[in-house]
Amino acid sequence: MKLLITGSQGQLGKEIQKEAEKRGYQVYPFSHEELDITNISAVETAVQELEPDIIVNCAAYNQVDQAEKERETAWKVNVEGVENLALSSRRHGSFLVHYSTDYVFSGNQNHPYREEDLPSPLNYYGKTKWEGEKVLEKVLSPSQFLLLRVSWVFGNNPKVSFPLKLLQWSREKQTLRIVDDQISSPTYAYDAAYFTLELLEKDAQGLFHFANSGYCSRYQWAKFILEKLNWRGQLFPAKSSDFPTPAQRPLFSALDSRKVETVLKRKIPSWEEATDRFLLSLKEGKNE
Ligand SMILES: NC(=O)c1ccc[n+]([C@@H]2O[C@H](COP(=O)([O-])OP(=O)(O)OC[C@H]3O[C@@H](n4cnc5c(N)ncnc54)[C@H](OP(=O)(O)O)[C@@H]3O)[C@@H](O)[C@H]2O)c1
Repeated sequence: MKLLITGSQGQLGKEIQKEAEKRGYQVYPFSHEELDITNISAVETAVQELEPDIIVNCAAYNQVDQAEKERETAWKVNVEGVENLALSSRRHGSFLVHYSTDYVFSGNQNHPYREEDLPSPLNYYGKTKWEGEKVLEKVLSPSQFLLLRVSWVFGNNPKVSFPLKLLQWSREKQTLRIVDDQISSPTYAYDAAYFTLELLEKDAQGLFHFANSGYCSRYQWAKFILEKLNWRGQLFPAKSSDFPTPAQRPLFSALDSRKVETVLKRKIPSWEEATDRFLLSLKEGKNE
């Protein structure tokens, strides 16, 4: 089975590559430099030459604040890039796996979001990701794609992984203030990759939410990590309004992943257990 990965150097891309290789897929990983998904002819050439059974799109424009300014780039990657992949998938009969985000939701709900809840993004990044979903659903029928909404993804990209950012801050500072009014479900990139492959092997199709089970505020997550690290500094809760950012973020965007659990007939590990495994992998200088 041939599996092509875009954005293969991102935190999810790396884990998909490892997990797919472990399971015996013939894997074709493409980094951003090797395949720019906004370049329709490059996408078409790669898909035509390799004829992959599955394409896993791990490429995205993920800089939430920068997206407010760099609107054109964010749109090109998160909407047009997805359309290019969907068109090539349709033409060559490849099954397309794509990822979206909890930031498609406004955060006004007080219980975890399910697949049937209506998106209403607050920021431009969320808007482009939602438009990307719509493009995917327009070009392909549900039997031709797997769309996974993930939230607060953490892995080995220091630019986007909250635990890695926190580790850096804890080395540089004695006092940290972290917001306690943004709540969601952390998603370990390793688990997202593992469950993606499990879903593929069960022929799952259409839209799913996937995150580690449970939810927490950024402050609770930071407290959990800093305690494990025996950090000697002081941690204080803060409010989003204390740190004005160009992009507004939803206050409550936890995802309800029960549909994945029902299809696979198994439980998804909690965010605490997943964070522990990630910290252990850092300590041992390896990844799972
Ligand atoms: N990170 C999160 O907290 C989070 C939360 C919710 C949803 N998600 C979604 O989860 C998916 C995976 O994200 P991630 O956490 O693995 O992000 P990541 O580590 O930032 O990986 C994204 C990768 O896409 C590449 N890329 C950017 N523009 C590209 C283009 N035009 N063509 C090809 N590759 C391009 C990036 O390369 P460069 O670094 O060279 O630009 C990077 O390697 C994305 O769909 C994202 O929207 C992420």
